[in-house]
Amino acid sequence: MFADRLKNIKPFRVMEINELAVQMENQGHKVVHFEVGEPDFPTAQTIAEAGKRAIDLGWTKYTAALGIPELREKISGYYGSKGVHVATDRIVITTGASGGLTLLSALLLNPGDEILVTDPGYPANEVFGALVNASHRRLALNPKSDFQLSMSAVISEWDREITRGLLISSPSNPTGAMLERETLSGLAREIKKLDGFLILDEVYQGLIYKDDCEYWTGIEIDPDIYLLNSFSKYFGMTGWRIGWMVVPASAVEPLSRLAQNLFICPPTISQYAAIAAFETESLKIHEERRAQFAKRRDLLAEGLTRLGFTIPVYPDGAFYIYADVSFSGMTSTEFCGLMIEKYHVAITPGTDFGTYDADRYVRFSYTTSVSDIKRGLNQIEKALLARGIF
Ligand SMILES: Cc1ncc(COP(=O)(O)O)c(C=O)c1O
Repeated sequence: MFADRLKNIKPFRVMEINELAVQMENQGHKVVHFEVGEPDFPTAQTIAEAGKRAIDLGWTKYTAALGIPELREKISGYYGSKGVHVATDRIVITTGASGGLTLLSALLLNPGDEILVTDPGYPANEVFGALVNASHRRLALNPKSDFQLSMSAVISEWDREITRGLLISSPSNPTGAMLERETLSGLAREIKKLDGFLILDEVYQGLIYKDDCEYWTGIEIDPDIYLLNSFSKYFGMTGWRIGWMVVPASAVEPLSRLAQNLFICPPTISQYAAIAAFETESLKIHEERRAQFAKRRDLLAEGLTRLGFTIPVYPDGAFYIYADVSFSGMTSTEFCGLMIEKYHVAITPGTDFGTYDADRYVRFSYTTSVSDIKRGLNQIEKALLARGIF
């Protein structure tokens, strides 16, 4: 009854963990949430007020498919404040990065084409190809190479008959690893030679914790890169469903046509709210939150290491720690099952993010309070002690 492509679209395994977590909470247990991929902070008041104001002023109608000019200009100005020139008319406002990915699949892939994605990587990446009857090929990222994608892997896996492009994220979900500037420019160069496209997902940009890290964005490297960004993570606006892309100038008109037909426009109220995300007061709040994330990351990483986990790559960005759980003698599926059922700690198994060595890893999200992180670590310690591991 339903289309064949549904066979290739799996639910996130973390949803089962989520369901169990809800059951536990309904039974009155306190659950520690390390599984959630969204900031625990509410949207900054400055942004929320701007959203309310838009409603009061009746700014609730459709907008241009590419987004309101004020927001596109703000984003261009934001890049400008970081020393990067991005022309306003190359900025496309989207219904979250997810809306951006949907548009890019429709723009860039024909049925039968293939897109390269990383393993581990954001689980939904492979679905965007499936949506237009294209396939994906996973490129394994090795912790021994700091979860970095090698140029040789891209070249050797690229099938000139069907491969059309590469989708990669930095900082990465789930590893928190960041691409080196040189790696990205090498990839962009090679992919151009292969006549392919490169999509760079920067939705965790802003959530970077390296003190000496100089700001850069993929768009400086090559204007032909399709850049995805979002107000969900650094700007704390997950439920507002708003994001943006920077695309090559030639792609703007076809994207506008697609967006008109698929979405009409991105959510209007959210667009007006997002303008306020760049106010000085909002940016101050976001920077304070970033500092809190950095403290939580260090606390969690130290606690996990003490308990025996290996963190192959210390995460410089996003809000995740991808840790090796094999010392426990359990697979990640077993470990996450045990932790939620008996110890009421929700963690995402690596199997959600790919297949390569995936059952060795678990993803911890530190979008939870310091006291919950401490409680979670205590619970893990108890579980390991009960099994005679710690
Ligand atoms: C790497 C990555 N890309 C894209 C998205 C989708 O984000 P949005 O909320 O902007 O649709 C997520 C969400 O978790 C993500 O982790």
